[in-house]
Amino acid sequence: SIDLSTLTRQSGLTALDYGFVNTSATKSAITYIDGDKGILRYRGYPIEQLAENSTYLEVAWLLIYGELPTADQLANFDENIRRHTLLHEDLKRFFSALPHTAHPMSVLSSALSALSTYYEGSLDPNDPDMVEINTVRLLAKLPVIAAYAHKKSIGQAFLYPDNSLSFVDNFLKLNFGNMAEKYDIDPVLGRALDQLLILHADHEQNASTSTVRLVGSTGANMFASVSAGVNALSGPLHGGANEAVLDMLGQIRESGGGVKQFVDRVKNKDAGVRLMGFGHRVYKNYDPRAMIVKNSADKVLEALGVTDPLLDLAKELEQIALSDDYFIERKLYPNVDFYTGVIYKAMGFPTRMFTVLFAIGRLPGWIAHWREMQTDPQTKIGRPQQLYIGSPERQLRKP
Ligand code: ACO
Repeated sequence: SIDLSTLTRQSGLTALDYGFVNTSATKSAITYIDGDKGILRYRGYPIEQLAENSTYLEVAWLLIYGELPTADQLANFDENIRRHTLLHEDLKRFFSALPHTAHPMSVLSSALSALSTYYEGSLDPNDPDMVEINTVRLLAKLPVIAAYAHKKSIGQAFLYPDNSLSFVDNFLKLNFGNMAEKYDIDPVLGRALDQLLILHADHEQNASTSTVRLVGSTGANMFASVSAGVNALSGPLHGGANEAVLDMLGQIRESGGGVKQFVDRVKNKDAGVRLMGFGHRVYKNYDPRAMIVKNSADKVLEALGVTDPLLDLAKELEQIALSDDYFIERKLYPNVDFYTGVIYKAMGFPTRMFTVLFAIGRLPGWIAHWREMQTDPQTKIGRPQQLYIGSPERQLRKP
């Protein structure tokens, strides 16, 4: 690899790289991907092993601190996060100013910016104690904000967090519990959600993580950086794809035209229609996360007692696409978003909450990258070049 910043300074050469297809913006020790072989590792550990044997909080610690936590470290981390779940009562009123039709991703990013206003004076990115406390605040409060965005959209009262519960059970209760009835913990639901959060926890320099790093490189605080990451994630080509996949499956079903007809539209690039949940900038093989989700989808739906024809439709779509030259030549395979929506739906989440779930999963990765950047002595403010193609100098002559 060439250090382009030195080369540029010395030679005046600039590389034009739309979409940063071939530009490394940083060195990183967090996540390894081999897109040709379909390999993903967090801090060296294969994603398959972490998904099978770890919890989301263990993986969060691993990503942020570099090693798996000891039993004591994990217990303290868990306890600390439980103690920080409450939102300031005034912040709860923030939600009343928004329409119930607001997209939960917009609610999430604005509430995160609003949240930082409660911590003026403890936001300094250069103070390690403040970085620690803000790490815990974000991990503890983002799921609560997410659940309130959901409750707001369905017109139900917000519940207080129940800190006797684990991270995921608390989140599920905040979403699906209500004031009138006791909430029954479903271990199948909790474990399935925990596993999905692990699968989303980091993916090196994807668009949202790069956004978090770019914003953080200016010296902006962790809340501002993560809030920007949420906005980047919301796009349908990134995290928003999980919502788009379910909409697509629903439309195929309703149109009655069948899977083959839809695939033909994609191949003909009919009005730019894409097979959502397929293709990836880095994976030119099956996304290992999609493989895990696909393998668990049947089990989870069965355990939840749900049957969904959309899962069969997704499998049919995958089968047709994977045997079609258009997809084979372009190395387009299902990505993590292809099957997650069917599971989120079976869990009872509305489609518009899917990307919010992705954001909760991705939060440890954003935090880990933000912190890695802050402590890297080579970090500079992110500032891409451009090739100017506008008018040469001209003179202003007023008529
Ligand atoms: N359906 C149909 N064709 C596709 C798809 C797709 N999902 N993805 C890529 N292609 C085609 C393009 O049209 C292009 O074809 P061409 O060579 O004939 O012009 C070729 O494959 C290369 O595509 P690019 O857009 O150049 O690939 P890029 O790496 O820039 O894009 C992306 C990656 C954005 C993920 C793309 O595959 C896509 O739009 N997928 C659908 C959205 C999606 O699922 N996003 C989630 C990504 S994973 C994540 O963020 C968690």
